[in-house]
Amino acid sequence: MGIPTKDLISLSPLSREDIEELFNLADEMKKIIERPVKKVPTLRGKVIANLFFEPSTRTRTSFELAGKYLGADVINFSSSGSSISKGETLLDTVKNILAMGPDLIVMRHSSSGAPHFVAERVEVPVVNAGDGINEHPTQGLLDLYTIRNYKGGLDGLKITIMGDISHSRVARSDIIGLSKFDTEITLFGPRTVMFYDPSPYRVKIARTLEEAVKDADVVMMLRIQRERQSALLIPSIREYSKFYGLSHWKLSLLKEDAIIMHPGPVNQGVELTPEVVYGNRSVIFNQVTNGVAIRMAILYTLLSGEGS
Ligand code: CP
Repeated sequence: MGIPTKDLISLSPLSREDIEELFNLADEMKKIIERPVKKVPTLRGKVIANLFFEPSTRTRTSFELAGKYLGADVINFSSSGSSISKGETLLDTVKNILAMGPDLIVMRHSSSGAPHFVAERVEVPVVNAGDGINEHPTQGLLDLYTIRNYKGGLDGLKITIMGDISHSRVARSDIIGLSKFDTEITLFGPRTVMFYDPSPYRVKIARTLEEAVKDADVVMMLRIQRERQSALLIPSIREYSKFYGLSHWKLSLLKEDAIIMHPGPVNQGVELTPEVVYGNRSVIFNQVTNGVAIRMAILYTLLSGEGS
């Protein structure tokens, strides 16, 4: 099936088999990306609307490239400079864009639940490109895909997620996705930005950075989501960096073959130093590359009738 629903709003409805099927499809998409001419006519005649009501570099660009590599036309809408400033509602904005004929909507919004709200009210598939603190399912899939490619699979792995967990839609999608496999997930971060109640998730909470990273096969770092905190929930950025960041000298605490990931954007010098970002443990830029292949697999599945 790949994607068992009309839309991709959350990773929850996807089974392990659905995710593995998307990974196999992404493997095929990677071959297209690696060709000298990166274009196939598979989605020729289809139109994808990228609707971004919140800033993005990686997600928006990779959805645009994914659509174009598959032969679709892609239009980009961002709320800045739109008629939203004149009082147009979210649903009116979407319905007006749909009146121009797109076949699929990719949507990012600062409000948790906004893509779900729209998906229930439109006929075309809606792909959640990140909604508030809720979920970022395509980032979750590309993260799992990257881990699977580096480690040869997901079962049996220990994955540590460190940073601002409670405001991170990436952490939620990663945890939901990883929990469909036989993985051990450890979380670490300041108490003020940890899940208040972690019991819905199959996770362990580490008390120290050493405990968090020492057995990890994968260390996923997150930035402090200042835009989602009314007041900064950590005493100071300098202290955060000292106790919760990874610098070059702290890498000796990790297993030799542990990889370091980050969904971006990185606040260099806060959660990761530049030496770590560009160092040989980092797979951060591979995550970005894999994001295009995964998004091609998602667009193909939803638009070619291979999904629900
Ligand atoms: N990872 C991610 O969502 O990055 P952008 O905000 O740049 O899209």
